[in-house]
Amino acid sequence: MFFMRVLSGIQPSGRLHLGNYFSMMSRMIASQASSDLFCFIASYHAMTTVEKGADLADGILQAAVDFLAMGMDPEKSTFWVQSDVPEVTELTWILSTSITVSQLELAHSYKDKVAQGIIASAGLFTYPVLMAADILLFGAEKVPVGKDQKQHLEITRDICQRFNNRYGEVFVMPAPDILEETALVPGVDGRKMSKSYGNAIYFFAEEKELKKSVMSIVTDSMGVNDPKDPETSVLYQVYSLFLDEAGRASLQDRFRTPGTGYGDIKKELLARILEHFGPYRKRRAELLAKPDDVRDILRMGAAKARKAGAPFLEKARKATGLG
Ligand code: ADP
Ligand code: TRP
Repeated sequence: MFFMRVLSGIQPSGRLHLGNYFSMMSRMIASQASSDLFCFIASYHAMTTVEKGADLADGILQAAVDFLAMGMDPEKSTFWVQSDVPEVTELTWILSTSITVSQLELAHSYKDKVAQGIIASAGLFTYPVLMAADILLFGAEKVPVGKDQKQHLEITRDICQRFNNRYGEVFVMPAPDILEETALVPGVDGRKMSKSYGNAIYFFAEEKELKKSVMSIVTDSMGVNDPKDPETSVLYQVYSLFLDEAGRASLQDRFRTPGTGYGDIKKELLARILEHFGPYRKRRAELLAKPDDVRDILRMGAAKARKAGAPFLEKARKATGLG
């Protein structure tokens, strides 16, 4: 059977939250059954924001453990740490000659990060070129991400096209895979959930912290006996991520029918989160107790990834006249 190559990465720059989980992690893990899955921890990218070496090393281990606990199967899929495959940096250089500075200057993500106070390093500026190399090195066809990565994917597609026009059909044109329902998961304050906004719900946090986050989800001033509008409710949007269509219809009904307060719905949501992530939490603790085994798994993944990337890099070197 022919399986499509699906690839995505996540930065190990902090604890993972519900936005990461629903837009990328759970979809990647579920797609293992029906795709040739490539999943990596974007350690080089994280250097643009993580200042200390010890924090980066810890972030890499934690992200690896999170994915493995949730069902990433390193035998079936290719699961690795970006910087264990240094070929990606060679390809980044090669690709950087197929994009202009003015195009990179238009990247929202770069502008947003600089506005947040992150140092405008050359690495932060060329971040999208490294991302293009991540994708093109492995011939990925589909890239599941959240909406905020859409422009980065467009840059990758531009680079791919320009390179192939200049040197011949070396790289596979990738397509973004953005699901409307989870494209933008809101945080507890209603803005995009993000670790940098302090509004994230961290699914592996201790119960006390989770409770505090869920209880702090913004609501309007409607009381128990008022009808409430699910369409504009952040609480509804977050809760609905855990529900199927029938569950969503019934939650909408309960919003509109007087009798249930926001506090009760928040308590239910908390119970849902604990129940959903409970089994993963246990597996996570087991893996964390054996970090050397996790590192072995990642080493094996890097070897597989290097093998898959080598033919593309070789083709690129030949086509460009490098060798
Ligand atoms: P953060 O904004 O917290 O720093 P990252 O940039 O590390 O998150 O995002 C990792 C992945 O999760 C990307 O695919 C991104 O699109 C997705 N993602 C992050 N936050 C959200 C969100 N609030 N809603 C949907 N997807 C998100
Ligand atoms: N930039 C992505 C993020 O912050 C992470 C990432 C790096 C990525 N390389 C990638 C995602 C390649 C998809 C494909 O979320």
